[in-house]
Amino acid sequence: MAIRITPSILNADFSQLNEEILKVSSVSDLIHLDIMDNKFVPNFTFDFDRAAEIIKDCPIPVDSHLMVVEPEKAAPAFAEMGSASVTFHFEAAQKPRQIIREVKAKGARAGVALKPGTSFFDIEEYLDEIDMVLVMTVEPGFGGQSFMSEMLEKVKETRKALGKNERGIWLQVDGGISPDTIESAALAGADTFVAGSAVYKSDNPAEMVKLLRRLATP
Ligand code: DX5
Ligand code: ZN
Repeated sequence: MAIRITPSILNADFSQLNEEILKVSSVSDLIHLDIMDNKFVPNFTFDFDRAAEIIKDCPIPVDSHLMVVEPEKAAPAFAEMGSASVTFHFEAAQKPRQIIREVKAKGARAGVALKPGTSFFDIEEYLDEIDMVLVMTVEPGFGGQSFMSEMLEKVKETRKALGKNERGIWLQVDGGISPDTIESAALAGADTFVAGSAVYKSDNPAEMVKLLRRLATP
């Protein structure tokens, strides 16, 4: 099973993002871009124009995680901007299947994210079309929170439901991923790992990405 490490720049220095991204780009699979609108979550990160610039300047593919209301509008826009993957929150979506189809039609992978209180079984019916399930291992909104180990059960349920996984659906975890927690998430079945503060609060972000990859690799 392929492992992907996707550093989140939420805890990077926003005043020099290009440099921050360059610290990890040669050792990472994608850069995880957290978009918060101060409505779906009580925090704001980047508006569409700034996000488009970040995506355009990023030397490796971008994994956009939209913590926003009305993903019917935002998700296709982020695909259009050139994100390799666009993940929206199931809790915010009125028309999940329409979003998934529009994102894919614009050439991006379509991911569905689940807050800790949302069951995997609520989205199981979309496995025929989605490209990634994101199991949040913290409440979305902020970096630097503690990993919720009770979410491992949801990761296991998701992995089980993927079965032979002929479409190659990714199973991502986001929140509190560090050298202390990544192995348990990998053992539960995650293959795609977001790490924010573990990477950007480390003295050597690239070495931290490599360490996380080693720990997650079976
Ligand atoms: C939180 C974001 C995460 C955040 C993770 O809502 O979705 O991507 O950056 O940060 P850490 O790894 O510090 O928990
Ligand atoms: Zn995220």
